[in-house]
Amino acid sequence: MNVLLIGSGGREHALSYALAKSPLLSKLFIAPGNPGTARHGDNVVIDVTDHGAVIDFCRLMKVGFVVVGPEAPLVAGLVDDLEAAGIKAFGPKKAAARLEGSKGFTKELCAEFGIPTAGYRRFTDADAAKAHVRQQGAPIVVKYDGLMAGKGVTVATTEAEALSSIDAIYAGEPNAAIVIEDCMVGEEVSFFCLSDGDRAVILGSAQDHKRVFDGDKGPNTGGMGAYSPAPVFTPELEAEAFETIIKPTVAGLKQRGTPYRGVLFAGLMLTGQGPKLVEYNARFGDPECQVLILRFASDLLPLLLASADGGLGDAKPVLSSDHALTVVMANAGYPGPVQPGSEIKGIDGAEDVGGVTVFHAGTRMDGTRLLAAGGRVLNICATGPTLRDAQRRAYEAVDRIDWPQGFCRRDIGWRAL
Ligand code: GLY
Repeated sequence: MNVLLIGSGGREHALSYALAKSPLLSKLFIAPGNPGTARHGDNVVIDVTDHGAVIDFCRLMKVGFVVVGPEAPLVAGLVDDLEAAGIKAFGPKKAAARLEGSKGFTKELCAEFGIPTAGYRRFTDADAAKAHVRQQGAPIVVKYDGLMAGKGVTVATTEAEALSSIDAIYAGEPNAAIVIEDCMVGEEVSFFCLSDGDRAVILGSAQDHKRVFDGDKGPNTGGMGAYSPAPVFTPELEAEAFETIIKPTVAGLKQRGTPYRGVLFAGLMLTGQGPKLVEYNARFGDPECQVLILRFASDLLPLLLASADGGLGDAKPVLSSDHALTVVMANAGYPGPVQPGSEIKGIDGAEDVGGVTVFHAGTRMDGTRLLAAGGRVLNICATGPTLRDAQRRAYEAVDRIDWPQGFCRRDIGWRAL
């Protein structure tokens, strides 16, 4: 079977690495991909916002299955349009992708189906939102009700911070919808399941590090590192979250006539009253996907096909008992503006460290030179029998990368260690 993978980040390099191992795969195309995905298939230039162009490409190249990596094409309805054209695709349709596309939608679903989550109010007016913040006090959480590349959430520790985040949202969009939530206390865990619209199966857990600097300091990022499994997420907590959060979500969306097929990435808070939903994402996490994929012992492709087909049945994805950890190497200045174009050397040497795999995130080739082309640039990943082994290997590999403009956190995994 020919497969087209949509996306260009570290997540898509990891997915291409796993898909390329499948005996079911004939040819893999990645649009647009990156120099890392080019090791596992053909990178192709298609404007993925032009759904007609994606459909034409699939027909021309006899693509039987499209795997959508990032959220934006899901929320834009790419899967709906592919299916309407008779092309099978992995990921939720537009109506179900609202789980990620709209925080308010998810909160209403939680209220309707009794899914544990923080108390909330929804606003479309800055003055009313601010009055609510003044009444509730801090800490309090302000969320932009739409996609903002993981950066639309402010966990405000002071009332002033919450008020200025409301001002910042309404300055950019006078009629913005926002959700204001009670602040939950506990450890955050990323929980990944696969749904076929009718039932769900557990893939695994991970924890990421969102702040840019060591000790969880500095501004939020898309994620500076991750590890899997999340030791704090015991089998008992996993079973509880699956029963109280994942199952009612799948059942609720089915009951509403918008079944959810694809990855359910639940951001959970492990509170004193049990796991509660912080937010849903409609795709694999980045960089959580990279560490999950490195532990995957099952063939990924038939699982993704079964999710799209409604045929997960009794599928039981198998993950190795190894631990995996990834360190994100980012370009100086990230998450602010960065200067692209600096040369990166030493990836082969880094991959000579036992158990190490390097996934590309924001890179490009210039002839034979590898250049930085984004904010998050490389994922230096390692597996090992313990999390400490994985961490030691990953940093040994980081130290072999020759890229003076790059930086990383030196403490990925600290919470679990
Ligand atoms: N690492 C968090 C995310 O992918 O949204």
